[in-house]
Amino acid sequence: MTDIRPRLHFTPERGWLNDPHGITWVDGEYHLFYQHIPAGTAWAPTVHWGHAVGPDLMLWRRLPIALTPAPNEGCWTGATVLEDGRPNIVYTSVLPDHCNLGRIAVAIPDQQLRTWTTPDDGILLGGPPPDLNAAVFRDPCIFRTDAGWTMVVGVGVEDGAATAVHYTSPDARRWSYTGVLCSRNRSETDGVWTGGMWECPQLFRIGDDWALVVSVWDDDRLYYVAGAIGAYDGTTFTPERWSRITDDEIAYAMTSFTDRAGRPCVMSWLREDPEHDADSRPWAGALSLPMVAQVGPERTLRLHPHPDVDALRDLSPVSRKAPGLFEMAEASRGLDLELPVAHNEGWALRLYGPSSPLLTMHFDSVAVGLVVNPPAGPSMVVPVSDDRIRIVIDSGLVKIFAGNGSAAFRVPATSETTLAVTGSDLDRLRCWRLSAAR
Ligand code: FRU
Repeated sequence: MTDIRPRLHFTPERGWLNDPHGITWVDGEYHLFYQHIPAGTAWAPTVHWGHAVGPDLMLWRRLPIALTPAPNEGCWTGATVLEDGRPNIVYTSVLPDHCNLGRIAVAIPDQQLRTWTTPDDGILLGGPPPDLNAAVFRDPCIFRTDAGWTMVVGVGVEDGAATAVHYTSPDARRWSYTGVLCSRNRSETDGVWTGGMWECPQLFRIGDDWALVVSVWDDDRLYYVAGAIGAYDGTTFTPERWSRITDDEIAYAMTSFTDRAGRPCVMSWLREDPEHDADSRPWAGALSLPMVAQVGPERTLRLHPHPDVDALRDLSPVSRKAPGLFEMAEASRGLDLELPVAHNEGWALRLYGPSSPLLTMHFDSVAVGLVVNPPAGPSMVVPVSDDRIRIVIDSGLVKIFAGNGSAAFRVPATSETTLAVTGSDLDRLRCWRLSAAR
């Protein structure tokens, strides 16, 4: 069976992929790291850090493993920290008997920035703050302000409050605990429910505002990405209003980073069940497109495609078999559509493989949203609050941006895909091929 895979979304050559992290621009290229099991297509506690580099946030070149766990260790999610212009990895080191109570460790790069090694004194924090009754401790997020370095770590406390704790440091090596950054009981549902534990908490600045983004985990189940704009006073974060950041079932473990132009950006893992046939497809898991984070008019977090996605637009017109009929060969990367909402209230979009429908969606003016019927699972409504909807179609993945709404869907990957759009004003539908050699 041919291995048809996404071309716009990053996938591992072989093996399992989950969370992206530590994305950073160093010496003229981006580095991307991700949770990786090289020898199998299912997650295991002995996670490695996979590595890729690229001239932008789309054209990644896969590299050998950056960080290999010691025997019986797992190198779980973390961040990179520039020390003298070189990226150190700060990760969650877990031991098999204490998987949930991680330690925070640093690993140092070789000269070529290809392999990272944990020095003997590499454990920066041996566990959670003692006063917290913590059952889970992992996933450092680190950034620098004029006041020095800040680290935020996810904690699950025994009484069921999802919590992020806060540390400061003068040098990103010696850390002092300052207290709880933000915490929310699992019974709270105002705006959105945020579970009993936050994985991968990300605190970052958007202009004059601050955002806290969390991956909602509860009772061993992964849910979705939620977040809030709020006030950060240097030790605590006070959210304005919690909301869901992704309106789908697959985006998780969102990581924040600053791109080379200084924009606040995010990327996430697009989850995949490991139960597929590993003989026919030797890899599992993909990363989302890179996205720019903004504060929307309702003071919620909004995601837009990063300009590096736009840069792949092939400006020659896409040939249409009929006004709303497009064909996409697997080799041609993907399609990028823009639909003005006001003129297309009646429109519907259907994606077909050679023999079967893959996904359908239509605009519902009562719900003011896009009703998406994925091939498996319930239909979802993606709220539309912008005057245009942007849809990026890749082999096996479809991504929708609609103002407040943002969602990714898996579809069966097929060698030929046909897209049929019906609507009142197809002349206003804009479409580009996204094409550049990888
Ligand atoms: C999120 C997560 C993190 C953890 C990592 C392990 O998907 O569970 O909390 O550090 O994955 O791979």
